[in-house]
Amino acid sequence: MTGAPEGVGARRTALEVLSRVIDQGAYANIALPAVLARSELDERDRALVTDLVYGTVRMRRACEFLVDRFLTRRPPPAGRAALLLGAYQVAYRDDIPAYAAVSSTVGATPKRFRSLVNAVLRKVAGAPLEFPDAATELSYPDWLVELMVADHGKEAALAALAAMNEPAATHVRADGYVQDLASQWVAEHFASALDPTVGSRVVELCAAPGGKATAIASKGSWVAALDLRDSRVELLRSNIAALGTSEVAAVRGDALRVPFAAGSVDGVLLDAPCSGLGVLRRRPDARWRLEEAAPGRLAALQRSMVDAAVGLVRDGGVLTYSVCTLSAVETLGIDEHLATTHPHLRPLEPPGAPWIPWGRGALLMPDARGSDGMALFSYRAGGGAGGPVG
Ligand SMILES: C[S@@+](CC[C@H](N)C(=O)[O-])C[C@H]1O[C@@H](n2cnc3c(N)ncnc32)[C@H](O)[C@@H]1O
Repeated sequence: MTGAPEGVGARRTALEVLSRVIDQGAYANIALPAVLARSELDERDRALVTDLVYGTVRMRRACEFLVDRFLTRRPPPAGRAALLLGAYQVAYRDDIPAYAAVSSTVGATPKRFRSLVNAVLRKVAGAPLEFPDAATELSYPDWLVELMVADHGKEAALAALAAMNEPAATHVRADGYVQDLASQWVAEHFASALDPTVGSRVVELCAAPGGKATAIASKGSWVAALDLRDSRVELLRSNIAALGTSEVAAVRGDALRVPFAAGSVDGVLLDAPCSGLGVLRRRPDARWRLEEAAPGRLAALQRSMVDAAVGLVRDGGVLTYSVCTLSAVETLGIDEHLATTHPHLRPLEPPGAPWIPWGRGALLMPDARGSDGMALFSYRAGGGAGGPVG
C-alpha cells in the first residue's frame, strides 16, 4: 500500500464488509470476522474497521439523510457505501479530523466514484448536523421508535434508543465467562429465590449459550439446560466444558414439549426467545432486520412457553420469566397472561434499582447502567413453603 494516505487500508476493508452487508444482506457480525481473518491489518486497524463497520451499519439511516441532502440521484452501491462510511466518520467520530476521514475514505473508494464522494463528504463536513425527526437522528426504523414511545413514553424511549447507539461494555465473571450485567442479575435473582438450605434442582428451558445456567449452578443448584437446536446445544456443551462445571447438563429439547415430569422441579427459568429490543447495541444490523410484527408474533410463542413452564414447577417452587426486550407485549403482556391463566402464581419481590417496577416484575432500561435492556418476572407456585424472597 505504498504511497496511499494513512488509514486507507482500514477504510478499504470496511468498505468490503459494508458492501456485503448493505448490498448483499450479509450479517455484519459474520461478514466482519470473515473479512478480517484474511486481512493483514494490525490490531489497531482491526479495532478501527470494527467500529467503522458497526457504526455505519447502526447509524445508516442518519448517514443516508446526511448524504442524500447533497445528491441529485443515488450512486451505485459501491459509491453509496463509501458515502455512508465517510458520513459516519465525519458525523460521529470526533477523534478523526474531517479532512482525514474524507481523504482516507476517498482513497479507498473505487476510482470512478472518487470525485463524487470527495465533493459530497466535504459538504457533509461543512453542514450542520440537523435531522428532521428523532427516528432519523437516532437511526432506527419509524415503527421501532413509535413502539418504544408508545410503551415507555417519549423521554424514556429516546434515552434508551440513544444509549443503544453506543458500543456495548464487556463484563467478565469471576470464572472468566463474558456475560452482560443484566443477565448476571437475572441469574442471581432467580437463584436467590430458591431454598438455600438444599441443593435445588432447576430447569432452564431456553438455555444456550449457557450464561445464566452456569451462573445459577455456581450458586449451588443443579441445572438441566434445555435448548431446541443441535448447534445451540453444542455451543451450550462447549461452554459448560470450558467452565468445567458438572452441575449443568445440556439437553436437546423443545420448551413447548418439555421432557420433564409435571411438578418435578424446584425452579424453572424461562429466558425466552424475544425481539431483542434491549440488546440492539450488540447487533448493529438487528434494527434493520426486525419486522414490525415480531414482538406480537413472539409474544404468542412466549405465552405458550410460560404455560408449559408453569406445569413443571413443584408446589412452593419458583418460576422466572426473562426477556432481553422492552416491548410491552412481550413483558407486561406475559405477566398479564400469567395473572389470568395461572392465578396460583404469587409474584416475588422484584429486584430494586437500577431496575424499575414493571407490572408485577421489573424492567432494566439500557441507559440505566449501560447494560442490556431486560425484563424479569418471578413467581412462587401455589401456597407451599416460601423461600427467602417475596
Ligand atoms: C435468549 S436465548 C437464551 C440465552 C440463555 N438463556 C443465556 O443466558 O445464555 C433464547 C434461546 O432459546 C432457544 N429456543 C428457541 N425456541 C426454543 C424452544 N422451542 N425450545 C427450547 N429452546 C428454544 C434458542 O435456540 C436460543 O438459544
